[in-house]
Amino acid sequence: MPHRNTVQTIDARPNLTSVKLHKSSFSPFISLLTATLVAVGSTALAADKPAATLKDAYKDHFYMGVAINRTIAMNAAVRAENVNRSLEQVNKDIAVVTGQFNQISPENDLKWQLIHPQAGSDGYNFGPADAYVNFGLSNNMYIVGHTLVWHSQTPGWVFQGTNVPPGATNSPAPTLTPGPDTTNAPGTNGFGGRRGGRGFGGFDMSGPRASREELLQRMHDHISTVVGRYKGKIKVWDVVNEALADGGTNILRASPWQQIIGPDFIAKAFEYAHEADPDAILRYNDYSLENPAKRAKLITLIKSLQAQGVPVMAIGSQTHVSVSSPSFEQEDAVLTDLETLGLPIHITELDVNSAQSGQRSNSGDVTANAATTQGGLVSNADKKLADAYAGLFRAFKKHDKSVKVITFWGVNDGVSWRAQGRPLLFDANDQPKPAFDAVMRVATGEPLKVE
Ligand code: XIL
Repeated sequence: MPHRNTVQTIDARPNLTSVKLHKSSFSPFISLLTATLVAVGSTALAADKPAATLKDAYKDHFYMGVAINRTIAMNAAVRAENVNRSLEQVNKDIAVVTGQFNQISPENDLKWQLIHPQAGSDGYNFGPADAYVNFGLSNNMYIVGHTLVWHSQTPGWVFQGTNVPPGATNSPAPTLTPGPDTTNAPGTNGFGGRRGGRGFGGFDMSGPRASREELLQRMHDHISTVVGRYKGKIKVWDVVNEALADGGTNILRASPWQQIIGPDFIAKAFEYAHEADPDAILRYNDYSLENPAKRAKLITLIKSLQAQGVPVMAIGSQTHVSVSSPSFEQEDAVLTDLETLGLPIHITELDVNSAQSGQRSNSGDVTANAATTQGGLVSNADKKLADAYAGLFRAFKKHDKSVKVITFWGVNDGVSWRAQGRPLLFDANDQPKPAFDAVMRVATGEPLKVE
């Protein structure tokens, strides 16, 4: 029987299409080989911590991933209003990405606003997305696509048309001017990720809009073009992002997609994506699933899609959380509930906010993002962050039969969309923080030691 290679190769990765994880039994020879490689690695890297890597530590559990932005994919310095990254820093960021992780997600460049800014078949801008995919291929990484259908970072033209909205008699002309930037906090990639506009891409839903048929046609063109272009290369797609309503009793958010097409926009998006790449894993992705009411909505939605035979194949839980919650027990309960759907679970946008004003609720709402990073850090932020990450990873590990992918939303605190909340494992200089050690200790089962 062939032995599975314990050194990081594509073959050694979990099989994401199956909920059951194939844990391998290593031969003594392979273990010795690995021990030797690790020992050699440690000596070589002794002065240059960390010698151990996240992807190795968790290789029998999950893909360990990270969202990357255009600076990393294209190896380019950036000088923007709120993020300045020199080429030297970008090169260090790249070293962390390729050294620590075996999966990537695109922070912005595959969103509609950036990959398809103008109408028509020549309205695409594939350059940065191609660079992202090529980066993943050349570094042998598992490549995720994010995201096809979302209410945010979608240009107004997508929803534009001549149909008068129900109830309106004398409608004003459509407003397509982007509103003030609400899609980002410090840490934007400086290449246009901030042009999302307010809420629904600057589109005024009280004015004339596209018909259901027009919007379905635009959605189909977009999905078949983008998914088709990266067929076989992008293995997992966030097909629909954040369709659930945050409060109240409505299951779905009143987005232009929902208002113009109706609730079946979700089923249609999954059908179109499946048609464009039948082998891709198709994910529904949302935030605040730590909140029991929102989680209940998610479960209702997914069960209804499953009952209709819609090809939804994985649940993406963004997991933009805070140092105050969830605890190990709370995350354990979240995952236990999500597992009732019988689908693989992907932790898609992990970060843990340490800013004072981010402690009241866990939300990935882009319009509220800046506000969640105000007020300075909580006291003992490093220790609280380490404890919070340890609790989360204990829960992920406990549920490793269903949790298949864990993606951090950014490489380090310097480029994070929540930079002021210092939410990641590496600081702005790419140095591992106590939270990194905490996550590594959970992998090895060693007790947590954080001063
Ligand atoms: C964020 C990016 O990190 C920012 O750079 C951008 O300005 C706004 O979007 N949920 C999602 C992600 O699904 O796409 C969002 O990413 C964070 C919340």
